[in-house]
Amino acid sequence: MNTERGPSSRPAVAILSRGDAVARRDATPTTGRFVDVFEALGAVGVEAHPAIYDESFAEAVREQLLGVDGVLVWVNPIQDGRNRAGLDALLRDVAAQGVWVSAHPDVIIKMGTKDVLYRTRAMNWGSDTALYRTAEAMRAELPTRLAAGPRVIKRSRGNGGQGVWKVEQLPASPMLKVLDATKEAPEQLALDDFVRRCAEYFENGSVIDQAFQPRLNEGVVRCYMAGDRCAGFGHHKVKALIESPAARSQAGPRLYTSNADPRFQRLRRLMEDEWTPQLISLLDIARGDLPAIWDADFMLGPVQADGSDSYVLGEINVSSVHPYPQEAPAEIARRVAERLQR
Ligand SMILES: Nc1ncnc2c1ncn2[C@@H]1O[C@H](COP(=O)(O)OP(=O)(O)O)[C@@H](O)[C@H]1O
Ligand SMILES: [Mg+2]
Repeated sequence: MNTERGPSSRPAVAILSRGDAVARRDATPTTGRFVDVFEALGAVGVEAHPAIYDESFAEAVREQLLGVDGVLVWVNPIQDGRNRAGLDALLRDVAAQGVWVSAHPDVIIKMGTKDVLYRTRAMNWGSDTALYRTAEAMRAELPTRLAAGPRVIKRSRGNGGQGVWKVEQLPASPMLKVLDATKEAPEQLALDDFVRRCAEYFENGSVIDQAFQPRLNEGVVRCYMAGDRCAGFGHHKVKALIESPAARSQAGPRLYTSNADPRFQRLRRLMEDEWTPQLISLLDIARGDLPAIWDADFMLGPVQADGSDSYVLGEINVSSVHPYPQEAPAEIARRVAERLQR
């Protein structure tokens, strides 16, 4: 809590997103992408202000953030060729001065990069997962894994399918079949050429190698979380890494439902009662530092002994979760109010 604020005053948060000077001047709680979050925060007695950020007026934003109790950040780390270096330094600084930051850059690094798939591979949501720190390690170890079946290669930081590949060993050939998640058709490449394509991924991170999940064509369930509670679900038939044109044609938009959706109650219980506690303990994240909104994507895995589906984690998104289910803002607001009352 900020020391200048009296104990009786309402807690205040800033909702930070990117924009230019005009956007900063004109932003109000009743315009823009986060109207529903402003409303929900107001309903639980939290004062909320828009905070439009750009590197060119970072000092004004810093001043603003030092005057609130918390900041909810919605900034994609790799949008429009920009990065978050300046913003993250600013957020670290205001957090060190007592402002609650959701999500803190350290929490994003722990939860929001693909490394989480490796670090949590022993959890029940984990699959056969490896991590390569260098292109040489990938060159040396990938063939053995490919011999056992198709793999998915993912750069540590990415979204929208960038840096995600399905890789298969072609039978009776030294060549690989590789499919870029942003493309429709696979191509054939020699291992060395594929490793060269991935070389840049190692410049600022590692590469994750996960077993390809053959039930991908049944769709992906996205579980939205506000702190440690489920805030709803999204389900959709995907296109990325689906090869057959028939299956690709079934792809559709993500359909959102509330956390009460009967189809996903087992997943909800697993996320709230087992996996989130395990995740924060493994990654050493305090419960109160869990982001106000984050999501975890699941593919279906093998059917278990009791006949139920298993779920395989595909990724966790932390830094710019939007859109989200209609019910999520209320859940976000509850978590924020709880966090700031402590
Ligand atoms: N292990 C996997 N098995 C099968 N398909 C996968 C696997 N991992 C990812 N995919 C497919 O690739 C897409 C992109 O991967 P994802 O991990 O979500 O990365 P991002 O969204 O950051 O690009 C997923 O939506 C899914 O269609
Ligand atoms: Mg994804």
